[in-house]
Amino acid sequence: MSQRIIIDTDPGQDDAVAILLALASPEIEVLGITTVAGNVPLALTSRNALKICEVAGRPDVKVFAGAARPLQRPLVTAEHVHGRTGLDGPSLPDPVMTLQAQPAVDFIITTLRSEAPGTVTLATLGPLTNVALALAQAPDIAPRIKQVVAMGGGCFEGGNTTPAAEFNIYVDPEAARAVLAAGIPFTLIPLDCTHQALTSRARVEALRALPNRTGPVVAQLLDFFERYDEEKYGTDGGPLHDPCVIAWLLRPALFSTREVNVEIECSSPLTRGMTVMDWWRVTDRKPNATVCGGIDADGFFTLLTERLARLP
Ligand code: BDR
Ligand code: CA
Repeated sequence: MSQRIIIDTDPGQDDAVAILLALASPEIEVLGITTVAGNVPLALTSRNALKICEVAGRPDVKVFAGAARPLQRPLVTAEHVHGRTGLDGPSLPDPVMTLQAQPAVDFIITTLRSEAPGTVTLATLGPLTNVALALAQAPDIAPRIKQVVAMGGGCFEGGNTTPAAEFNIYVDPEAARAVLAAGIPFTLIPLDCTHQALTSRARVEALRALPNRTGPVVAQLLDFFERYDEEKYGTDGGPLHDPCVIAWLLRPALFSTREVNVEIECSSPLTRGMTVMDWWRVTDRKPNATVCGGIDADGFFTLLTERLARLP
């Protein structure tokens, strides 16, 4: 049976690859894509989502614009990583597709109320603002959500935006805290996992060599995206964060996991957005998340390459 998902996202090159992986996978039905401000402002993340649906040859996918700013804080963006457009790299045409009129938060609420309980997964690739707003406006949807699978946070790997915090959680820590507190089955894919999924030259060249349009477009996205992290970490390639969320839905056996208590720091200026994970169970706080600590990176890139080969 196919997995029915809403992708909540702030594209972003790695978000774009995650969307392509989902749209290329017959086991997944994308009910809609909801956009949020994050890597770049909302107008750009929304436009980028439309562009990527067109790369996939899927103008039928519904894209809904969501929150333009975090719940309580000014927006922090990451043009230094993703470029001015958020999708720098390939030259993609202006989208012909348009956004749906319905706001993203309404779409999330109405979908969860109309679909059978426990059948819809939220795959979140950006700050959790939209999901937190939906839960605040309609708490009745919480028990209807099958699961939230989120890219965010870090344990032993620390942060990538501050020493303590990963970008998605740093941008809207109050939203992350609210979603974690809602009692929904929650899987977190932190930097500890995604920093193992490196876009090495060989892996990018395998994508570039695909005999379709998508493979070379993805290679160009990754050429741009990896330059910042390669320099920062001194690695061959950069971490391909967000597609790990979709890979988890497709092939959980690629990941190693642990049931862990995760709390979000929202007060301290020094550690704002830190995911405090009780990895060694040194408190009596109950586990509230499945945390992916490792990934079979070769298996992940084999899956990604095989799936992207199916697109136009
Ligand atoms: C996360 O932040 C964004 O820059 C990426 O798209 C990813 O979702 C990694 O920290
Ligand atoms: Ca993202």
